[in-house]
Parts: sequence; C-alpha cells; structure tokens
Amino acid sequence: EVNINAGCPSDRVQSGSFGACLMNTPQVVAECVDAMKQASDLPITLKSRIGVDDMESYEELVNFVTTVEQAGCDTFIIHARKAWLKGLSPKENRTVPPLNYDWVYQIKQDFPELTIGINGGINCLEDALNHLDRVDSTMLGRVVYHQPYLLCDVDAKIYKQNTTKLSREQVLLDFIEYMKNQSNQGVPIRSMTRHILGLYHGQPYAKKFRRLLSGATVELGHLYEWLEFIELEQKYKNG
Ligand SMILES: Cc1cc2nc3c(=O)[nH]c(=O)nc-3n(C[C@H](O)[C@H](O)[C@H](O)COP(=O)(O)O)c2cc1C
Repeated sequence: EVNINAGCPSDRVQSGSFGACLMNTPQVVAECVDAMKQASDLPITLKSRIGVDDMESYEELVNFVTTVEQAGCDTFIIHARKAWLKGLSPKENRTVPPLNYDWVYQIKQDFPELTIGINGGINCLEDALNHLDRVDSTMLGRVVYHQPYLLCDVDAKIYKQNTTKLSREQVLLDFIEYMKNQSNQGVPIRSMTRHILGLYHGQPYAKKFRRLLSGATVELGHLYEWLEFIELEQKYKNG
C-alpha cells in the first residue's frame, strides 16, 4: 500500500503543507489520491485525525471522508483525536486532545463499505479486540515500541491461532541473527538495539536490560552474555 499522512502535526510537516493540515483541504487530498492511483497499482490508504483546529463537527469529518473516498481511497486509519496545529508540540498532540473513539465507530457505520482502522491510546490487545467489534482494524503505536513483546501474543489473542509463543530469549536470538546480517551491511548495532530496549518491560530485569543497551558501547557480545545471565537466573529459580 501507499499511505498518505494526513495526521502528523509537526511544524516541519506543516511547513510542507502535508500531514494533519491536509484535513483542511479535502479536495487536495482527493487530487493526491487520484494522481497516486494513476501512478501505482498499489492500494492507496490514508491516515488521518478526526479533525484539526477549527474542525469541530462530525459533519466536517464526514465531508473529508466523503471527498477522499470519491477519489478512490477505500481504507482510512483514523487517530481518534484532533490535532491542534497551533500551540501544541507533536508529543502533546498525541496526548492532550481528547480521544473520541465514537466518531471513528460512527464513520464505520456511515461508510460500511470502507475499511476503517482505529488508532490512538490503545494500550493492550484486549482493548484492540474490543475495538475490532466496531471497526475493521486497530493500529497500536507507542505501546508496541515500549512493550514490543506484546506482539508475541497477537497470533493467539487476535487471530486465535494455536501457535507456540516465543520466549523473550528466543526473540532476542532471532534479532541477533537479524542484526548480524544488517551489521554486515554497515548498519550500526546501536541503531538496532535501541528498538528493543523495552523487550523486558514489566519483568524483574527490565531496568538492567535497558542499562545494558544504553552503555557507551553496545556489542552483540553483550547480548550473548545477557542470554547466559537469564539462563542461569532461570536455573537458579527452578532449583
Ligand atoms: C516517534 C513517533 C513517530 C511517528 N511517526 C509517524 C509517521 O511517520 N506516520 C504516521 O502516520 N504516524 C506516525 N506516528 C503516530 C503514530 O502512528 C500514532 O498515530 C500515534 O502514536 C498514536 O497512536 P498510539 O497512541 O497507539 O501511540 C508517530 C508516533 C511517534 C511516537
């Protein structure tokens, strides 16, 4: 798919007239969709907010979706809060404007033929499942970054598949193999390990793991030592 971003509130993005400010100009988004459809056979999808700045009403959101849909976009992922383009930082724009999931549910009701995804503040798979009763998909952002291991429950909890769940250590071993390949192509180890700092979130050694990967130098050897440490701890725990 090719996804148009009509949800990002950053100044840099605004100065380029893309991201969330595009919600003020649905016709421009429709023209983009039209041009993209002519240039590519891939599905064109859109990520948006429920509104920006002075867009106060549900009808304005409906007008936006209608205009973009008519250009041929049939998949919308909607971050269920407005973006306030004046006065809030991008970080604040992910927490301060209140979440309004009902408008996203209503869009699905009013446009049943569209694929509607919901995003914003969904912090566990149980909540994701509840949203899936009302919309077609859910998007989890920050929680996956902070607690990546929750992805290991997706097959069982969301897709009801009876697969064996990998342990954190198995995930780590797979990731080490990935990092070896990438490192051979010149990718710095630290630029990869920074994405797994939260692997042990909620576990006794979460802080120790973060610290290990936050030192002045980060090497794959540290991760092998970590795996040995965990193995010893588990042996000790199991007597
Ligand atoms: C560091 C960071 C970078 C992001 N970059 C993008 C992006 O490039 N495109 C996009 O559509 N959303 C981006 N987002 C927004 C997320 O996709 C998501 O809409 C937002 O974090 C709210 O969902 P959450 O509450 O599950 O985190 C970013 C969010 C963060 C924290």
